Amino acid sequence: MFLSSVVRLAASQAARQVRGLHRSAARAGAGGIFVHRDTPDNNPDTPFEFTAENKKRIEAILSMYPEGHKQAATIPVLDLAQRQHGWLPISAMNKVAEVLGVAPMRVYEVATFYTMFLRQPVGKYFIQICTTTPCMLCNSDSILEAIQNKLGIKAGETTADKMFTLIEVECLGACVNAPMVQINDNYYEDLTPQDIEHIIDELKAGRVPPPGPRSGRFSCEPAGGLTSLTGRPTGPGFGVRPDLKGPHLKRGFREQIGKCRSEAAGLDPVSQRGSDGLETLCGQRRGLLSPACHVGRRERGQREGETFGKGRRVRDLNLGQPHRGL
Ligand code: FES
Repeated sequence: MFLSSVVRLAASQAARQVRGLHRSAARAGAGGIFVHRDTPDNNPDTPFEFTAENKKRIEAILSMYPEGHKQAATIPVLDLAQRQHGWLPISAMNKVAEVLGVAPMRVYEVATFYTMFLRQPVGKYFIQICTTTPCMLCNSDSILEAIQNKLGIKAGETTADKMFTLIEVECLGACVNAPMVQINDNYYEDLTPQDIEHIIDELKAGRVPPPGPRSGRFSCEPAGGLTSLTGRPTGPGFGVRPDLKGPHLKRGFREQIGKCRSEAAGLDPVSQRGSDGLETLCGQRRGLLSPACHVGRRERGQREGETFGKGRRVRDLNLGQPHRGL
């Protein structure tokens, strides 16, 4: 008896500490319920018309699709409607259906499937905080808490002045820069609670802080500095078998590379030769596989695109692609 009550107590305490998945996204209408309920703000009579500028954009978008396939433009045209209005009332979806010449249901199906389409009003700044595992391990909870304290709202709510809406979302694809938030179209990464407070202060002051990592690193380069490609590139002949390094073969390789590159670029091979040799452009310094390997295969009569070995293909040496798969 005593044991079962202890277990019940422990279970209820654990349950209180677990946040519901997608809870806030559902409240904000980014996904959420899949049916529409008319409200004073969101009903078929809610005024919506594309601006003249957006009508031109729609024409340009539709011109990319063949006649009879305008439905393929549903997502870009819905996106235009959302950017114009700030969110997607059902009247905007109906307008999109009219523009595309499809049944409204075809548009509703798309708008209710993708969580990027907001079917309820959101604030001027729409904050999406990622709390999926990599961000969680980098303490996204502290960022969430800082935002909630700063704005006085919980996840899934909008501030009274309609400036900020906060929702909790699944991975936004910037895990290497965790923890991060997306605010409208901008990613703010490598955040600390102080960073996000500063970002919110800037937005409140009418300034949009520059997006990107706050740690000082460039993009998603290693947080502790470069770990590879730190030395000078190796020169031609690096890693080539000693018996293939003779001057005759080197010359043959240059000619092969020059011919190959020139064919692809439609250029005279001679014009490709630089002061340090053509192979520099196409071969070793671009991180390609051993040049002798390609030359050898070509000397056996292989041509671009032909298969050899276990169905692998000879690739063009001139595309700047790593050839490690050969
Ligand atoms: S887990 Fe947060 S961006 Fe991927």
